[in-house]
Amino acid sequence: MTAETAPLLELRDVGKDYGSVIALDGISTTVRAGEVTCVLGDNGAGKSTLIKILAGVHRADRGQLLLDGRPADFGSPREALDAGIATVYQDLAMIPLMAIWRNFFLGAEPTRGRGPFRRFDAARAKDVTRRELAAMGIDIRDPDQPVGTLSGGERQSVAIARAVHFGARVLILDEPTSALGVKQAGVVLRYVAQARDRGVGVVLITHNPHHAHPVGDRFLVLNRGRSLGSFPKADVSRDELTRLMAGGAELDQLAHELERPAT
Ligand SMILES: Nc1ncnc2c1ncn2[C@@H]1O[C@H](COP(=O)(O)OP(=O)(O)O)[C@@H](O)[C@H]1O
Ligand SMILES: [Mg+2]
Repeated sequence: MTAETAPLLELRDVGKDYGSVIALDGISTTVRAGEVTCVLGDNGAGKSTLIKILAGVHRADRGQLLLDGRPADFGSPREALDAGIATVYQDLAMIPLMAIWRNFFLGAEPTRGRGPFRRFDAARAKDVTRRELAAMGIDIRDPDQPVGTLSGGERQSVAIARAVHFGARVLILDEPTSALGVKQAGVVLRYVAQARDRGVGVVLITHNPHHAHPVGDRFLVLNRGRSLGSFPKADVSRDELTRLMAGGAELDQLAHELERPAT
């Protein structure tokens, strides 16, 4: 061991099968506090399977998951959450017609008073929502407005701020930018950087190297369940990531095929 602190999360040679389908095999990478680990890969590469293992939805069939350097075994999403691993899924689990502040506190409403006098403290919830969003640089005009009136990027941002507020040490984001336009994606990536700067270890799933490279510190590239490598940023350029993802030679072949025949 070096003097370096243990990563928040580490995967060692992890594998997972669905029946006869090998969804993941031999996957190793690390997630460190205050860093962004990007998981890249095309459809079917195994990205969702990987986050489900980190989030306690599935157990790995092979290999080891370490939390703070110690073997971890999450039997349920609740156990992963209790260990500080928060996951923001694509559908976000928000209720569009409900106010922003209600969504922010969904399932964890602050209360006031004791026993039979215990009441939900709405004023405090609104205040905390406004302050937490402001701390992330998110300017919400009115916490009473329904979440459904926010743009996709803003909604992702509220979900990120919520996870950070409730003490996430690891924040897993499943393709947060895939349905967004260029500008909105930029907004979400800024909040990813904010969470990182607050010391959270972020796992960012994407199939877009242009989104991953600027914000990422480490890049795990998956191809049909296998790892093409887990690279620190210094070792891989954006163009190399793009080529790796497309399967280098295949992309060159395609470019060749698409060229106009010489006249
Ligand atoms: N519940 C499941 N049952 C059987 N096969 C699955 C299941 N979930 C995923 N797979 C298969 O595992 C592989 C990886 O899938 P997935 O992790 O969803 O990839 P990605 O998120 O990168 O698109 C694919 O071949 C997929 O068809
Ligand atoms: Mg997926």
